[in-house]
Amino acid sequence: VVGEPAEGSVAESRSSVVRLMMPSDANYAGNVFGGVILAEVDRVAYVAASRHARTACVTASIDRVDFLAPVRINDVVEFTAEISFVHHTSMEVIVRILARGLPDAAARRVGDAYVTIVAVDADGRPTPVPPLALATDEEKVRFEEGRRRFEQRRAERARRHGG
Ligand SMILES: CC(C)(COP(=O)(O)OP(=O)(O)OC[C@H]1O[C@@H](n2cnc3c(N)ncnc32)[C@H](O)[C@@H]1OP(=O)(O)O)[C@@H](O)C(=O)NCCC(=O)NCCS
Repeated sequence: VVGEPAEGSVAESRSSVVRLMMPSDANYAGNVFGGVILAEVDRVAYVAASRHARTACVTASIDRVDFLAPVRINDVVEFTAEISFVHHTSMEVIVRILARGLPDAAARRVGDAYVTIVAVDADGRPTPVPPLALATDEEKVRFEEGRRRFEQRRAERARRHGG
C-alpha cells in the first residue's frame, strides 16, 4: 500500500558491538562501572532501532538491569541488540551482554537489557515505525512477550506519572 512503511525483519536490524574494557572504565579494584555497560547498551539498541525505523530515534526507557556476573578490566564485552516488539511509534530492543577475559576465557552472561526506543519526526514528536516481519517461532513468542512487557510499562507509567 502506498504510504505505508515497508516491513523490516529482526535479522535486518540486528546489531552488535564488541568493547575491550580499559582502566578508565573501572574503579580502583578493576571492576567495571555499571554505567559503562549501560551506555554501550543504549548505543547498540539505538543502532538497531534506527535501522528498523529508518528515522531519528530517542531512548524512552531502559528497564531495570541486574548485573549477573562481574565485568573486569581486560574483559571483552559483546553486546547484541535485536528488535523484539514494535507497537505504534515505539520499539522494544533486547540487548544481550556477554563478557569474556582475553585471550580466550569462556563467555559469561552479564545480563539482558530491555530498551524502549521511540521513532520521532523532525519536531521530536513520535512517528510510526514499520511493522516487524517475524520469521521464526522464537521471534513470534518474543513478540508476544514484548507486548506483555509493553502493557506492563504503560500501566506502571500511568500509576507513577498519571494519565
Ligand atoms: C519518548 C518520548 C518521545 C515520548 O513522547 P510522548 O509525548 O510521551 O509520546 P506518547 O505518550 O504519545 O508515547 C509515544 C510512544 O512512546 C511510548 N513511551 C512513552 N514514554 C515511554 C516510556 N517512558 N517508556 C517506554 N515507552 C514509552 C508509548 O508507549 C508510545 O508507544 P506506541 O506509540 O508504540 O504505542 C518523549 O517522552 C521524549 O522525547 N522523551 C525524551 C527522550 C530522550 O531525550 N531520551 C534520551 C534521554 S538523555
